Amino acid sequence: MRPPSSVREFEAAARARLDPAHYDYFAGGAGEEVTLRANEAAFGRLALLPRVLGGAAKPELGVTLLGDRAAAPVLVAPTAFHRLAHPEGEKATARAAAAAETIMIVSMASTVAVGDVAAAAPGARLWFQLYVQPDPAFTELLVRRAEEAGCGALVVTADSPVRGRRDRDERHGFHDLPTGLCCENMRDETGRVRPIEFSPAISWEHVDRLRDMTSLPIVLKGVLHPADARRALGHGVSALIVSNHGGRQLDTVPAAVEALPGVVEAVAGTVPVLLDGGVRRGTDVLKAMALGASAVGVGRPVVWGLAADGERGVRRVLDLLRAEVEDALTLCGARSVHDLGADLVLRPC
Ligand code: FNR
Repeated sequence: MRPPSSVREFEAAARARLDPAHYDYFAGGAGEEVTLRANEAAFGRLALLPRVLGGAAKPELGVTLLGDRAAAPVLVAPTAFHRLAHPEGEKATARAAAAAETIMIVSMASTVAVGDVAAAAPGARLWFQLYVQPDPAFTELLVRRAEEAGCGALVVTADSPVRGRRDRDERHGFHDLPTGLCCENMRDETGRVRPIEFSPAISWEHVDRLRDMTSLPIVLKGVLHPADARRALGHGVSALIVSNHGGRQLDTVPAAVEALPGVVEAVAGTVPVLLDGGVRRGTDVLKAMALGASAVGVGRPVVWGLAADGERGVRRVLDLLRAEVEDALTLCGARSVHDLGADLVLRPC
């Protein structure tokens, strides 16, 4: 059978393979899924206004983020539970990310421990995503594990003081991983697996404590309000990810790409601003970068690749997006992902 030739086709292939409860866990969002739909729809409403006859050669796609090089500005966003999608789980994803020469942000809720992910994918550039745990000692244990695994940054998720309410999971009664799978990073010193806890009390003080605890760069994920973006700069944050968690947390917040310009303006070039949410095509990547993003992350597209065809599927999704970015850049008359300006995008009035 011919391999899928777009993220959309990968989603269909993944859906055909996955248990419906697991498909809905990956695909779904919070509440009425207004934000989930908005993430993709907002990219559709933005038009590209290309330049012609620029005489550019093969465009430059590579980016360097916090000292880590990625061959294309498309990172693997942190997503939980990869072994629900494929038996090799995060090991397969990391090998594919390494082969595609991009950065993978390993979820704290991964079903393979971050050290084992690193060992399975030599050369992979990994960052570690953290939900601050109410027990500070356990949070520190997680940070140390990320450091020992060689992760290049700590991605602190700020948009999840509680877990989003997701009707699809309620309908299926999907609340826990099946027997045999667990969040391997959550083992304490005795080997017992702790539940991931969300911390309603998470505050800027926690960011300060993390800043004191580790020399890893801290990336704050889930920022939408420009005032929070400005505030983050005073707390030693090295980068921001504009994200609404793929529409899985607070429903009816704006599409990520709609929130992007305000955050970019607020930080005024002092730290890189990344975006995730709704990126499905190379043209979406260009639009985000034209509006000031330094790179984007993809969440579900990677899961669809993994469910459809394991490591090979993830590799193909990342390669497809890379090829689409390259084509879109050429068609826009751009020499590099670094040369894109807001004049490339027509925003609806
Ligand atoms: C996520 N996301 C997420 N974020 C995070 O910080 N930690 C996590 O463990 C997870 N887990 C997770 C699971 C699944 C199934 C999804 C779909 C998403 C959010 C993720 O990092 C990212 O913000 C969104 O996935 C981006 O939107 P797209 O690319 O899926 O549209």
